Amino acid sequence: MALLSKFDDMRAALQALAAGGRNPFDVRFEKILSATEAVLEGRSCLLFGTNNYLGLTFDETCISASVSALRAAGTGTTGSRIANGTYGDHALLEQRIAEFYGKRAAMIFTTGYQANLGLISTVAGRDDHLLIDADSHASIYDACKLSAAEVIRFRHNDAEDLARRLGRLKNSAGNCIIVTEGIFSMLGDSAKLREIASVKREMGATLIVDEAHSLGTRGKHGRGVCEELGVESDVDFVVGTFSKSLGAIGGFVVSDLPDFDLLRIACRPYMFTASLPPAVVGSVIAALSRISTDASLGERVRQSSGKLYRALAHEGFAVGPEPNAIVALKMPDREAAVRFWNRLLDRGVYTNLALPPATPGSLSLIRCSISAAHSDAQIESALSIMIAVGRELGVLDSELKNTSAPAPARVRA
Ligand SMILES: Cc1ncc(COP(=O)(O)O)c(C=O)c1O
Repeated sequence: MALLSKFDDMRAALQALAAGGRNPFDVRFEKILSATEAVLEGRSCLLFGTNNYLGLTFDETCISASVSALRAAGTGTTGSRIANGTYGDHALLEQRIAEFYGKRAAMIFTTGYQANLGLISTVAGRDDHLLIDADSHASIYDACKLSAAEVIRFRHNDAEDLARRLGRLKNSAGNCIIVTEGIFSMLGDSAKLREIASVKREMGATLIVDEAHSLGTRGKHGRGVCEELGVESDVDFVVGTFSKSLGAIGGFVVSDLPDFDLLRIACRPYMFTASLPPAVVGSVIAALSRISTDASLGERVRQSSGKLYRALAHEGFAVGPEPNAIVALKMPDREAAVRFWNRLLDRGVYTNLALPPATPGSLSLIRCSISAAHSDAQIESALSIMIAVGRELGVLDSELKNTSAPAPARVRA
């Protein structure tokens, strides 16, 4: 049997997708023009499918900090912090992140994926129990596979279900560790963290919140949904990424846990991989300083995404449950989603096509992400193209429509 024959179904699905126009997993930008525009298939298109929520990838301060760090310390560290040493800026970035969150300590990782993989697989040992939201990101699921703990899924965003499942563990040995996200990456809904934190307190569990999509976009100071809902003191570990609002790559964990530094010599995805290169660390320090001192970026992305979300809902699109920097459009089925995604790209709007099994509830989604760098004109232009394509393909007023979405203050088609 051929080695890759186990992927025959996947190959067939990919061929069917590509037959709809393009291969959505192999989109190639010929040139990146700015945080919101790129050249694709020979012409300029609007980027509504990045996670560049604050638009910092072309920020002058971040670029010059990155270039200075590159010149000063070279292109790479060529090894891990444990085996090959920590650079001054690694330690400085950890200090700045801990200060930003008002926590005692921070640990940075080479990606956000590795931050989840490392933290969760290390703190959850053989006798422990991991209780994860059913809609968790792949990095959380993969961390569970790497951990020796028992893994229990609770119903998406359902604190009562979580409490029931924790209740069944009350006489068992080991720690109970709850893992959830601030904002969920597919539908853009936020976690019911007040309810979850109250269950955590009642049951004496540990709580980990992944704020990958909420750092910079939510909370008065940009610290995410934990800050916004006033539960920061209940959260034992906040996980985050540098690859979205901070416009670079990397991940982190912050905590008040005494002995937190012990994790550095226990956490394999931290120990056995090269540390972040100077240019990345330099730009992230600058980006963090930007968001610490400038609340207008977060405000701008909330305003723009709220406007787009309400206008799309008003037109009859079935949108996700709440306005956020991620605006998801639920399509009637996979074929409609593929057609919609291709048609948008034909008209110069790049979004993400998200299909089962990568989506919650087996939904076929067009996932749009909004950036503080999008101009009003770009938002209006993407909106009118989405409405026009929605009408052409007859996906408006679908049965999936979210009737609870509020009417927009102003709608332009
Ligand atoms: C919720 C969540 N956590 C973690 C990650 C991984 O982040 P990174 O891209 O920095 O590895 C992602 C990436 O999309 C995510 O959506």
